[in-house]
Amino acid sequence: MNWLEFDSTEELSAHAAEILLTTIRERPAAVVGLPTGRTPLGMYSRVVGECSREYHCFSAVTTFNLDEYVGIPREHPGSYYSYMKQNLFDHVDIDSTNAHLPNGSATDLQAECERYEAEIAAAGRLDITFLGLGRNGHIGFNEPGTAFDSRTHVIELSESTRRANADLFSDRPVPTQAITMGIATILASKRIVLLAGAEKRDAIDRLRQAFVDRSFPASALWTHKHVTTLVVR
Ligand code: GLP
Repeated sequence: MNWLEFDSTEELSAHAAEILLTTIRERPAAVVGLPTGRTPLGMYSRVVGECSREYHCFSAVTTFNLDEYVGIPREHPGSYYSYMKQNLFDHVDIDSTNAHLPNGSATDLQAECERYEAEIAAAGRLDITFLGLGRNGHIGFNEPGTAFDSRTHVIELSESTRRANADLFSDRPVPTQAITMGIATILASKRIVLLAGAEKRDAIDRLRQAFVDRSFPASALWTHKHVTTLVVR
């Protein structure tokens, strides 16, 4: 695992944006795994700023988001669909048919998970996947205890995760379930970039111990050959 430390969230975001932009400049048809949450917001705003100056930035790029809540309409402001539109997709030239998220409103959730996994496979391997980090070590929405060989699946959200995301759901109860890429889906990506702000220090300290265990999902990243971890000191 390659560790890069930054003095501020701004510096971390600028570096993450540069990694994403370099990837799509070198490989315009890159297949990219994308995260949500507060941590990648600075990365997205920098990417949007750069792409407003570049021609055909995302025109051939395919994206797959890591996860989506179950049981809320995608137009709800708390959905990751809304998040991605607001923070990236509405501002770059991505073809909307190439921007994928799991459908958390699907009537058959199991079939939706299988469909999403098949869609990722059909696009070829993920070239690069960006991840945030939950305080309990979750990646995507893979909560502690998730099998490392898991593929896209429905997960019960932990109380701490529901509390951490409660701000987005002032008008309704925080969803109890989500669809997430599995840990094996994430590990199949050629390259992985993990982003963690200063508030994730405890989780980062635990990750640094390199103790690979299901109780701490991010520790699965130690089994991957090409992981870059960007942290704020
Ligand atoms: C959420 C998302 C994760 C994200 C994590 C950290 O639950 N599903 O993909 O990485 O929590 O979020 P934040 O960056 O807001 O701390």
